[in-house]
Amino acid sequence: MSLPKCKIIELPKIPDRRGNLTFIEAGRHIPFDIQRVYYLYDVPGGASRGGHAHRNLEQLIIAASGSFTVCTDNGHQKEEFYLNRSYYGLYIPTMTWREIENFSSGSVCLVLASEHYDEEDYIRDYKTFKKLAAGGDDHGAA
Ligand code: TYD
Repeated sequence: MSLPKCKIIELPKIPDRRGNLTFIEAGRHIPFDIQRVYYLYDVPGGASRGGHAHRNLEQLIIAASGSFTVCTDNGHQKEEFYLNRSYYGLYIPTMTWREIENFSSGSVCLVLASEHYDEEDYIRDYKTFKKLAAGGDDHGAA
């Protein structure tokens, strides 16, 4: 069985000498309906965000301004994605551990999400994540 993979999605870009424009339509440019949008900003130097996975949530992460690195892990394979263009999005499927780091000064990390916020959907313990990713249950892993 092949696992769903993280992938870079190139978004439409309308170049204009007054400034560029990028748009995203649910179900057309990204493989889920958007239920929530949030963004990280004013991230202090050296800070990292994320450090969890989601059972059901799919996301698209965009460097709306500046740059940062997203480190992903599906339990079998680790990858790193450097995002520094507002017209690229990183699609993150369910059951993917992610850490976001190396935020440049003034960067904005825009996230489109397939579900409303639900703390029950989070897996915040890495050992539990590894066990679930290997096909186990989450009893007694922490
Ligand atoms: P969290 O998802 O852990 O942040 P990150 O992964 O970006 O480091 O969320 C941090 C806090 O914000 C946590 O207390 C939950 C809250 N939160 C919401 O209330 N709604 C949201 O949509 C998100 C993403 C977080």
